[in-house]
Amino acid sequence: MNIEQYQRITDHMLTAIILVRSDLSIEYLNPACEALLELSQFRALKQPLLSILIDQDDQFDAQVALSRLLANGQPYTRREAVLKIGLRDKVVDYTASLIVDNDAPDDRARHRILFEIQPMDRLLRISREEHLTQQHAIARQLVRGVAHEIKNPLGGIRGATQLLARTLPEAGAEYTDVIISEVDRLRHLADTMLGSRKPPAFALVNVHEPLERVRALILSQFLSQFPADQLQVIRDYDLSLPEIRADKDQLIQVMLNIAANAVQAMTENKDHMQGRTPTLIFRSRILRMFTIHSVLHRSVIQLDIEDNGPGIPEELIESVFYPMVTGRANGTGLGLSIAQDIIHQHAGMIECHSIPGKTVFSLFLPWE
Ligand SMILES: Nc1ncnc2c1ncn2[C@@H]1O[C@H](COP(=O)(O)OP(=O)(O)O)[C@@H](O)[C@H]1O
Ligand SMILES: [Mg+2]
Repeated sequence: MNIEQYQRITDHMLTAIILVRSDLSIEYLNPACEALLELSQFRALKQPLLSILIDQDDQFDAQVALSRLLANGQPYTRREAVLKIGLRDKVVDYTASLIVDNDAPDDRARHRILFEIQPMDRLLRISREEHLTQQHAIARQLVRGVAHEIKNPLGGIRGATQLLARTLPEAGAEYTDVIISEVDRLRHLADTMLGSRKPPAFALVNVHEPLERVRALILSQFLSQFPADQLQVIRDYDLSLPEIRADKDQLIQVMLNIAANAVQAMTENKDHMQGRTPTLIFRSRILRMFTIHSVLHRSVIQLDIEDNGPGIPEELIESVFYPMVTGRANGTGLGLSIAQDIIHQHAGMIECHSIPGKTVFSLFLPWE
């Protein structure tokens, strides 16, 4: 087959294809590949293949694999190669195979290598998400177990202290009061750690209702705390969203936990705001064909709560959803883990992206 014939076929393919001569110069790439690599045919033809396709750490390996392919025709597949595309990294799988054309007029065209490239970002995200979900569930269970063990003897300690107070002279009450108030504080903490064990009470909910409630709560709390300051809440709603089956009170708790974190981050680090007005954005969207926990849903509602605060501290970014992980001196680290729990019970998931100046928590809730 000549190059025009290859082109005519691969131009219509959705798989990204690169055709390479035996000296590794690029002969052709199809439109799907131009889109994937964000590179025009014209520019690509001037670049050595290795600089485009192979990640830097990997040059040696790839060269060996390519020469083996040319020598004995053995195709190979490289998984999860990290390609630098523009300023971003893209993860792809690719397969290289040899095409031999004995009638080719040009020596270099007698042996060609065909690359088929598949972007993997989405698959990686899904497997990572499953892995994280499992880990969070284990951590939650652990915390529940500990909370349970702490809580058990507290009732006994409280009762015994009250009895003891009766037998002590007046002055002893000061000490027994300290024991009782600390026991009460621990009991409250243990209850929060245990979280709600109530299953969600599902009913049809317009997701903008809990969002609006949270907006009102956040604004009034902010005003009472910082009467002289300003907090902006921008609403960017898709009002055509359908109602979903959910527990409205639990959704309020989730959104409140997330929005409260955002407000805390924006107000506790005023110098990190560099003069920006603390701003929250509430956004709602509908997504088609979206996978959550390996289930493909036809429609999913996405709710974003975005802030322009300092961002999640780098060392916490991988672990904020774990229970007891906190970046604040008096935080419990339970807010996000409880939120995660609730959203899981709604068959949904929470994702978070954060850089200084922009933190977005996204809730994904299936609609069906
Ligand atoms: N919008 C945000 N901006 C910056 N940091 C955040 C944001 N949301 C959460 N965090 C970080 O995640 C940590 C965990 O949050 P959370 O689970 O609610 O526990 P807590 O609020 O009790 O610390 C916070 O302490 C904070 O460091
Ligand atoms: Mg919190």
